[in-house]
Amino acid sequence: MRSVRLGILGSGKGTNCRAILESIKSGALAAEARVVISDVFDAPILDIAREFSVPNAYLPPGRFRTRLEPQAEVEVVRMLRDADVELVALAGFMRVVKSAMLDAFPRRIVNIHPSLLPKFPGLEAWKQALVAGERVTGCTVHYVDEKIDHGDVIAQREVPILPNDTAERLHARIQTAEHELYPTAIGQVCRQLSIP
Ligand code: GAR
Repeated sequence: MRSVRLGILGSGKGTNCRAILESIKSGALAAEARVVISDVFDAPILDIAREFSVPNAYLPPGRFRTRLEPQAEVEVVRMLRDADVELVALAGFMRVVKSAMLDAFPRRIVNIHPSLLPKFPGLEAWKQALVAGERVTGCTVHYVDEKIDHGDVIAQREVPILPNDTAERLHARIQTAEHELYPTAIGQVCRQLSIP
């Protein structure tokens, strides 16, 4: 199977990006990371890209907080196209993707979210699950559409909520699940894309 050319977008720690890059390096994921882009200048995700010798870039996001400036989104599309990217993986990218990207990569943008969607979209989903008194939460990989943390589900993994769980401990266990689920789910999408 040929390698699918991947672009990764993130705003923070980059632990999911690391899991993807490790999975590629080990040969478990038949993909090639072409570029890592962040809207946060000093985000650790860019250091992780450098550690794995993946081309990386900071993209100034513009004046909005929850989405990119339209011109910045056009610029991301240009960067992804320049890198010849076929599939875009959002890995902790904390902005809503709008039409410039969705039109450029139709059904080619995937995201990971720390809840069992459609439950608890939005910020700090693990805290939302705790406050709601759930006994089970988890993580979801899904195709991205115009709504927040919404779109066809590709894969989900359950994580039990334990008695006396704290937000920190629960989030850590969800992240461990994410690091297994995301590379596997991307592999599933890559297999479909690489069929001639
Ligand atoms: C992950 O838990 C991911 O599910 C979440 O951000 C974290 C990024 O961590 N994404 C969302 O909440 C999207 N709505 P990372 O930078 O260590 O991969």
